[in-house]
Amino acid sequence: MVRGKKVEIVSLLVLVIVMAATAATVTYDHRALVIDGKRKILISGSIHYPRSTPEMWPDLIQKSKDGGLDVIETYVFWNGHEPEKNKYNFEGRYDLVKFVKLAAKAGLYVHLRIGPYACAEWNYGGFPVWLHFVPGIKFRTDNEPFKAEMQRFTAKIVDLMKQEKLFASQGGPIILSQIENEYGNIDSEYGAAGKSYMKWSASMALSLDTGVPWNMCQQGDAPDPIINTCNGFYCDQFTPNSNNKPKMWTENWSGWFLGFGEPTPYRPVEDLAFAVARFFQRGGTFQNYYMYHGGTNFERTSGGPLISTSYDYDAPIDEYGLLRQPKWGHLRDLHKAIKLCEDALIATDPKITSLGSNLEAAVYKTSTGSCAAFLANIGTQSDATVTFNGKSYRLPAWSVSILPDCKNVAFNTAKINSATESTTFARQSLKPDGGSSAELGSQWSYIKETIGISKDDAFVKPGLLEQINTTADKSDYLWYSLRMDIKGDETFLDEGSKAVLHIQSIGQVVYAFINGKLAGSGNGRTKISLDIPINLVTGKNTIDLLSVTVGLANYGAFFDIIGAGITGPVSLKSAKTGSSMDLSSQQWTYQVGLKGEDTGLGSGDSSEWISKSPLPTSQPLIWYKTTFDAPSGSDPVAIDFTGTGKGIAWVNGQSIGRYWPTSIARADGCVGSCNYRGTYRNNKCLKNCGKPSQTLYHVPRSWIKPSGNTLVLLEEMGGDPTKISFATKHTGSNLCLKVSQSHPAPVDTWTSDFKFSNRTSPVLSLKCPVSTQMISSINFASFGTPTGTCGSFSHGRCSSARSLSVVQKACVGSRSCKVEVSTRVFGEPCRGVVKSLAVEAACA
Ligand code: GAL
Repeated sequence: MVRGKKVEIVSLLVLVIVMAATAATVTYDHRALVIDGKRKILISGSIHYPRSTPEMWPDLIQKSKDGGLDVIETYVFWNGHEPEKNKYNFEGRYDLVKFVKLAAKAGLYVHLRIGPYACAEWNYGGFPVWLHFVPGIKFRTDNEPFKAEMQRFTAKIVDLMKQEKLFASQGGPIILSQIENEYGNIDSEYGAAGKSYMKWSASMALSLDTGVPWNMCQQGDAPDPIINTCNGFYCDQFTPNSNNKPKMWTENWSGWFLGFGEPTPYRPVEDLAFAVARFFQRGGTFQNYYMYHGGTNFERTSGGPLISTSYDYDAPIDEYGLLRQPKWGHLRDLHKAIKLCEDALIATDPKITSLGSNLEAAVYKTSTGSCAAFLANIGTQSDATVTFNGKSYRLPAWSVSILPDCKNVAFNTAKINSATESTTFARQSLKPDGGSSAELGSQWSYIKETIGISKDDAFVKPGLLEQINTTADKSDYLWYSLRMDIKGDETFLDEGSKAVLHIQSIGQVVYAFINGKLAGSGNGRTKISLDIPINLVTGKNTIDLLSVTVGLANYGAFFDIIGAGITGPVSLKSAKTGSSMDLSSQQWTYQVGLKGEDTGLGSGDSSEWISKSPLPTSQPLIWYKTTFDAPSGSDPVAIDFTGTGKGIAWVNGQSIGRYWPTSIARADGCVGSCNYRGTYRNNKCLKNCGKPSQTLYHVPRSWIKPSGNTLVLLEEMGGDPTKISFATKHTGSNLCLKVSQSHPAPVDTWTSDFKFSNRTSPVLSLKCPVSTQMISSINFASFGTPTGTCGSFSHGRCSSARSLSVVQKACVGSRSCKVEVSTRVFGEPCRGVVKSLAVEAACA
């Protein structure tokens, strides 16, 4: 046994070494990427390495492989790798080489989107902010300083990959690289210079000689030999700009990103699978899920403005690294079905015919006798019965059936054979023995951040300054401060010095302090207009305005010069007379960042922490600190920031990102249940309306020690940190699935020789997600016409009396079970109707 393992390991090692040493040729033709002379059907998924930790990478990559991916796609994040000009960082979450090697180790290819513009809801689209200060620079156009920097960084990445032998041409996993990103969406706004920049980008990339093809996405005029690829919710209608290029899809949005103040988008897997199947039906050859694992925008990496810290994206693997079921499982089945068709797919182009209105067949038939077919019903209303090759097939609305042998259905995009598994958060207190909030509160200490100017590097300038030009994004925070002497005889002021302070900002948050007290605040994406009633005193007054950015813009033409902050006007108005005094061009004092940021309070080490009670709460600009023990177990960890306002948090000195539980999603636009039929849009399926956009924030396990961890918060609005709680996320113990008699048999029952003796009937199969668990009870079972959805099934008009006992017998006491969905097993409860088996089971 042990010896056998050893032999296995040794031969595996030999294999890995042989693989590593073998250079592959990657080319393409009109049908596919061609690797070592063979066309490939490739399923890819995006995982952005800095949105998780190196400790998470192996598991994420393995889950991708198990889900049927062949390729991992990632951007390269310039601002992470070169935070200061010529000072590089390829460590930790930015260890790109390690990430690529881990993908290779799992036997996966890599698509490296060097950009170096990324977009990606990433701060400044991935550009380092220092780039903005290069003299004479203009981004993403025919501009010498920009092109020089772009070329230098692109070459740097290509050289690094070459040194590590990571291109397929050197025996590595990288089969494709991307230059620029969706420039074609906006290039017209750059005029002729945009066109020449695009052409320059293409030839610059080609000159780097990677030995593998390059692509440009959303660039209809990408010059040869660069492959132009499609991004979108659907790409079946896309055609590349040359007959010699394959049809490739670099971003199939598996969901959508979340913004602060926004409801949570999700995309039903029936529609996602439909989009993928339609793409392969119509000659597609490479398809990438954006995102397969979205992850987390740690530190200040989220773009914007106003991108949330979570980048979950409703992806098949959730933010915390857990499988999202049935999304992950249904797509895995889809990938298997597509791969069963691979021989036919790569051999030929599809023959597309109409089977009726909104009904379409595509057949891939080779001279050697292989045949694969895709049958689609793109109607949104009604199911249809079609006749194909003399056989009759039922096609649900908005679905595609895949027939790897042109006869039998292996998969239908609308019929899910994977069980729903819910994930839940379990609450944990900060201290295992702690409980009462008083006790938790007493463990907090604090430091008050000075309101207004406190640092030596503050400076005076006339007029209102744009924020990014002033802070260089070294901090989210910029103080605009003014001292005013009120003699008491100003005509514009009412008696008692009552006035209205008018402030205009281009984003994203403003706090106005009058004589050290918070008088008002507001926030907005790119426009904030505030009118704050204030009281001034006779004599000296201070007006301290704190402007806060929440992620720099990442998309659109000229996004780099949109700017932020209080660009004015700022004025004082008499509420009574209406006369006003413009303060915009006064001598303002500026401070970039907060004092506590300079002194490194985020790390927790400082001798200034005050632990005497009472702990100040509901006051702006306070640093809080506490210690905590690791939540028990090994499940992923989140902090629930409910009770706090807005700020930035650190665990053991590592920034976990911006928290903002008081940012409430708008109240409208959500749907109770989303109909997957019909064209998806990013705001079609929304949940969480009227609730905080994000209360839970991921803290990677590897950042936490068993005990003595430090949590630091910079609370800007005012809140009560003692309300914070910890939660661990795990896959719940309930499995739930409904399989009808018209479902295809599980795709696993297909073998590559297409013998299908044991796949005549549909099967309901269940498996406990945790290997040590067994199915302990069946909480619902009905073969007949059960109604409802997972969690709320009920018996319909017809239900076999044997339903529960059959399922119990097959499942209870085992980790997994399979039950044939047929009258042979359950008897006939009602003739003449298509019946379903609905089951809810619990694992323990
Ligand atoms: C695309 C872009 C991606 C990402 C996506 C939305 O336009 O290429 O980087 O921003 O939109 O998530």
